[in-house]
Amino acid sequence: MTFPKLIGASAIALTLGLAACGDQAAIKSETNVETPAVVETVRKITKDDKFTYANYDQIQTTHLDLDLDVNFDAKVLDGTATIDFKRINPEVDEIVLDTKDLLIKAVGVKRGENWVPAEYSLGEDDELLGQKLTIPLAEDATKVRIGYRTSPEAEGLQWLSPEQTAGKKYPYLFSQAQAINARTMAPVMDTPAVRITYTANLRTPPELIALMSAEQDPYTPRDGDYSFRMDQPIPAYLLAIAAGDINFKPINDHIGVYSEQYILDASAKEFEETPLMEGANERLYGPYRWGRYDLIVLPPSFPFGGMENPRLSFMTPTLIAGDKSLTNVVAHELAHSWSGNLVTNSSWRDAWLNEGFTSYVENRVMEDLYGKDRAVMEQALGLADLKRDIAGAERPELTQLKLPADIAHPDDAFSQVAYVKGQFFLMFLEERFGREHFDPFLKDYFNTFAFESVTTEDFITYLHDKLHVNFPDALTREELNEWVYEPGLPDTAADPQSDAFKNVETQSAAWLNGDVKAADIKTADWSTHEWLHFLNGLPELNEAQYAELDSAFSLTGTQNAETAFAWYMQAIKGGYEPAFAELDKFLMSVGRGKFIYRLYDALKSNGQADMANMIFARAKAGYHPIAQRRISSVLGN
Ligand code: BES
Ligand code: ZN
Repeated sequence: MTFPKLIGASAIALTLGLAACGDQAAIKSETNVETPAVVETVRKITKDDKFTYANYDQIQTTHLDLDLDVNFDAKVLDGTATIDFKRINPEVDEIVLDTKDLLIKAVGVKRGENWVPAEYSLGEDDELLGQKLTIPLAEDATKVRIGYRTSPEAEGLQWLSPEQTAGKKYPYLFSQAQAINARTMAPVMDTPAVRITYTANLRTPPELIALMSAEQDPYTPRDGDYSFRMDQPIPAYLLAIAAGDINFKPINDHIGVYSEQYILDASAKEFEETPLMEGANERLYGPYRWGRYDLIVLPPSFPFGGMENPRLSFMTPTLIAGDKSLTNVVAHELAHSWSGNLVTNSSWRDAWLNEGFTSYVENRVMEDLYGKDRAVMEQALGLADLKRDIAGAERPELTQLKLPADIAHPDDAFSQVAYVKGQFFLMFLEERFGREHFDPFLKDYFNTFAFESVTTEDFITYLHDKLHVNFPDALTREELNEWVYEPGLPDTAADPQSDAFKNVETQSAAWLNGDVKAADIKTADWSTHEWLHFLNGLPELNEAQYAELDSAFSLTGTQNAETAFAWYMQAIKGGYEPAFAELDKFLMSVGRGKFIYRLYDALKSNGQADMANMIFARAKAGYHPIAQRRISSVLGN
């Protein structure tokens, strides 16, 4: 939460008490405690983000101004970052920023009207955290300016050569700052606990367009000189940049799509219901607060399905299926405009506050627009993924919503636990309190904590104060603690029942029993969801059975990336070699982590380590640095 903050004493006591005694979320027992009137007190900022060097309990950055050349020849961003700050501790005599693989050229401090050179120091290089940049501050210091250059190997930036783009004529750059790669783009306090506004000037070759997660004119002339401003305070992980031969197509007056020309019309068509999603979100949780909402469809090496960069979600082209079957990812990234971007987890241990809330909101929006059946199918697919992640967890603590303090890497916070267990926890609360109470409660939560960063305990306290006190019998403290602080999936979790999926299961069983031929399975009306449920539910088959499915449904080489992924996972499990050439192509052309990490992992654990290594050797240069690192670790090299 940002500083300073007026807060009820009981809330403080509750929050501190939770941390101190380990008896977290003292919900029910607190109901009878006499609550003193709100006292003027200041919430102590505790540093609970271990993935930053920043001294943000002493001083916080407030504004970032970037002035950068986008140098495609050297594959670097080169220029200055000017930073405003506010002192939390008036005596603070230095500011500590995060950097990783940055070449620091010079540092200045503004004292009164003058800029003076600063005696900065750079700490030791840590493989995960990078280097701390410490700048001494005199009492009258008001700003710092850092001259710097990024590295061509910066994990947060992918530089594509013209040959790696669809147009083949111009290079392309895009960033991915979440979770802790903003520090490879600029010196920042790289923790979600600190928010900044930002402005930027970028210079590119004049044929290219540059975009950022900020206000910009979609019809700006191509002149290689672009300016941006983000007036709403955001955490550093939402800094984003893309540059390339990018075109724009409007969907309505404040929503549109950017992409390379080859996929622009198809993207605008695929995402044409985004305005309806925005409407559904606003009906539930109040106005969209960010001005424009645009989507950019990136090159296929983008390592995620989507990334909620404010005003400009970054999307994988694998969503362009032609039938809008994968647009829940748009609903998801848009929903982050409330859960995550407006109200932000204050450390990655609380990632479920971002991703679980967003998965919940996403699913509510899908239900609102497309009906209960689709929403329930998506819940059931998510639940199956969650069960897989819980079963495969390295240690049980990683299946708690509130993650332990000793998670090794922020990536560990983004399993299906944060997403689906988080979503199912909110579904549980919705069910217990009733939609009529839970919806307005969530809306108030987003408004109350707008532009702040919160912990799990802040949410629990708010839930207690605003809802549970009024309905003390809705749930017990034990039920709540189990959801938030214990591993696994509680028995109180919903069990989504889909008639469509039952039909799939019946037909699948009939085929597996030999009662019907694959070609007789009635798949004509199946959505992608039903296909996924069918494929994911298959046991290991024999060669003839794989071949029968493949010839009946042309699964190998299918253009829907989700279906292709599900099929190749089965093909790897059963050693169905006729699919391998297309699997190879898929791995060479798609860089979305959700697919490729598991495909490489499955190859390795099903006796195909050599094939995995050979494909990776060829594909690696085309993958995003984030994906390169993850796959190297999957393959153990
Ligand atoms: N914020 C995430 C992507 C992310 C997570 C980036 C962790 C870096 C670290 C984004 O909102 C997301 O969750 N994307 C999902 C789609 C969603 C429908 C589950 C994805 O990429 O698959
Ligand atoms: Zn998300």
